[in-house]
Amino acid sequence: MAEINFLCIHKKLRSKRLAPVMIKELTRRVHLENIWQAAYTAGVVLPTPITTCQYWHRSLNPKKLIGVGFSRLGARMTMSRTIKLYKLPDQTASSGFRMMEPHDVPAVTRLLRNYLKQFVVSPDFDENDVEHWLLPKKNVVYSFVVESPETHEITDFCSFYTLPSSILGSHNYSILKAVYSYYNVSTRTALTQLMNDALIVAKPKDFDVFNALDVMHNEAFLKELKFGPGVGKLRYYLYNYRTRHVLKPSELGLVLL
Ligand SMILES: CC(C)(COP(=O)(O)OP(=O)(O)OC[C@H]1O[C@@H](n2cnc3c(N)ncnc32)[C@H](O)[C@@H]1OP(=O)(O)O)[C@@H](O)C(=O)NCCC(=O)NCCS
Repeated sequence: MAEINFLCIHKKLRSKRLAPVMIKELTRRVHLENIWQAAYTAGVVLPTPITTCQYWHRSLNPKKLIGVGFSRLGARMTMSRTIKLYKLPDQTASSGFRMMEPHDVPAVTRLLRNYLKQFVVSPDFDENDVEHWLLPKKNVVYSFVVESPETHEITDFCSFYTLPSSILGSHNYSILKAVYSYYNVSTRTALTQLMNDALIVAKPKDFDVFNALDVMHNEAFLKELKFGPGVGKLRYYLYNYRTRHVLKPSELGLVLL
């Protein structure tokens, strides 16, 4: 199955029905590879989503987010109370939590494959995929493992990718530095603690907001870790493949970078 991502038309060429031309040509080239199915996502409604997911946002730098209009000061909240609300510890809580390294690829692949098989739709990662998509790359993707201090077994994994946005019309800031939850697997460490550790390590890298979809088991930690529901929806689509029923977001094990 092909994964289609990064469809983009130059601003000056928008609304000229070039997107369908691009899609038709892409489909032709994928067919030439003898691939007849594809997965893609979009904010817009097209025929026919396999599931509709919601973005949630966790402020890391509330002052900037409020300053640029990404979020608003809550009712009966002051800026200093808001900053205190979102403050994170300096140190991660899970012992053995560290950045993923190249020698972790086999263990992470095993962990991930075993986790993803429970979902109705999920990618079939091999070690090459894990190396390509998940090995840490500065300002692209960050992955962490929990290595048991006793057995040195890799018991848990979490990751996020970065996607900056331009801020229009602000005198103080030009870039919003966002990260997005990618794949997370908890077997020994509680998922909420694992994800709080992900927030803790994202903060000093100067990211402003940590975003997550309500896919996989994410609902279990969103509220407790002070994520708020966003206005953004993300629809998932399959080309030339039908699922038996419309999926709940929690039945989906796929996140596109
Ligand atoms: C998405 C984008 C490529 C569409 O191009 P456009 O110039 O606005 O639209 P066009 O006139 O070329 O084409 C319109 C058709 O494309 C379809 N379309 C729009 N967005 C689409 C998407 N993300 N995926 C598939 N089809 C899409 C529309 O439904 C419409 O088809 P219809 O009339 O049959 O419903 C363009 O708006 C863009 O580059 N946006 C910024 C990047 C982005 O959001 N990419 C999509 C990420 S999912």
